[in-house]
Amino acid sequence: MADTIVFTRGVPPTEAFPTDELAQCFDAALRADTAVVLQYGQQPGYPALRRQLAEEYGVAEKEVLIGNGSLQLQDLVAAYLVRPGATVLTEQPSYDRAIGTFRRRGAKTIGIPIEPDGIDIARLEAEVQRQVPAFLYLVPDFQNPAGATLSLEKRRAVVDLAVRYGFWVIEDVPYRKLRYQGEDLPLLRSIDPSRIITMSSFSKLLSPGIRVGFMLAPAELIAAVTRTGEDTYLSPVLPTQAAVAEYIRRGWLQPNIEKLKALYRPRWQAMVSATRQHLAGAQIFAPDGGFFVSVMLPEGANYAGLVARAKDIGLVLTPGQAFFADADQGELPDGERFVRLPFCAVTPAQIDEGVRRLASLL
Ligand SMILES: Cc1ncc(COP(=O)(O)O)c(C=O)c1O
Repeated sequence: MADTIVFTRGVPPTEAFPTDELAQCFDAALRADTAVVLQYGQQPGYPALRRQLAEEYGVAEKEVLIGNGSLQLQDLVAAYLVRPGATVLTEQPSYDRAIGTFRRRGAKTIGIPIEPDGIDIARLEAEVQRQVPAFLYLVPDFQNPAGATLSLEKRRAVVDLAVRYGFWVIEDVPYRKLRYQGEDLPLLRSIDPSRIITMSSFSKLLSPGIRVGFMLAPAELIAAVTRTGEDTYLSPVLPTQAAVAEYIRRGWLQPNIEKLKALYRPRWQAMVSATRQHLAGAQIFAPDGGFFVSVMLPEGANYAGLVARAKDIGLVLTPGQAFFADADQGELPDGERFVRLPFCAVTPAQIDEGVRRLASLL
């Protein structure tokens, strides 16, 4: 269908890439530091970028590991921390690839329901009391897929539980700098870093293709995960890390983030208002930033076979079930009731038309 509207792609549109600037930075980085950039080595990451990140987050360099995208770092952390019989807790719903990664590493992956202000703390504590997990995986800012942001009170409660019961928390924050309104809430690590692994990446701020992601954690954990990484890929991809370091050195990152926000803000506004207007009976998660709005359709809505019926009228949706880990209590919610609506790669006109089509199916 010529005017098919695609609501599946949680990726930056091609026009968002700073292509010329990145090309200049690649050229400069390769020529300026050839012996390092084109060689094996630097297992914890390209030194200049590691220094820049350490400075930005107020940590020591030995608390920073840069790898080939943050998903690979999640996988390495899971490979290191998950022991036979271990559980990993996530929000419910959660980032589908993270759930898949943790399961592949052998963890029983259990989802704790998410509310508009983040994970349900009482359900989280009940599950932790049943079994202390290897770690809890959270996307506290503009969550993928739901769009929820963890409140300050809940941030404190999560950190308190992690310290009291002794489990790790991954705070995965790739969307944090794409805030379209309101004020930043503190990172979990700024409340107490002792049990926190912070992950982020340049995929949403520069380009996913460069595969530059990073994690911040206590030095011993960084050293252990670095060894797992070295055993897996020998050295990380240094040319892209060096190009990012050069991009930051030139002072280009913040202006690029401002450009992205100017591009995405009208799309975000269009998605928030279209869902409120056309899907009034649904529970709508409308974040202050990021890539996603989501809706939980009412139980009485006609959502059976939704993805296939949407395709027939030129609307491509992601099946909701992929975002659900095992249930902590009772039945798993029907995944088809949950619809993730990424707005960054579609225009406001497409967004309005797509949400109208979705509403017409219910
Ligand atoms: C919450 C979250 N974490 C991690 C990633 C993967 O990031 P990277 O490209 O750095 O591997 C994504 C990508 O969509 C994401 O939404």
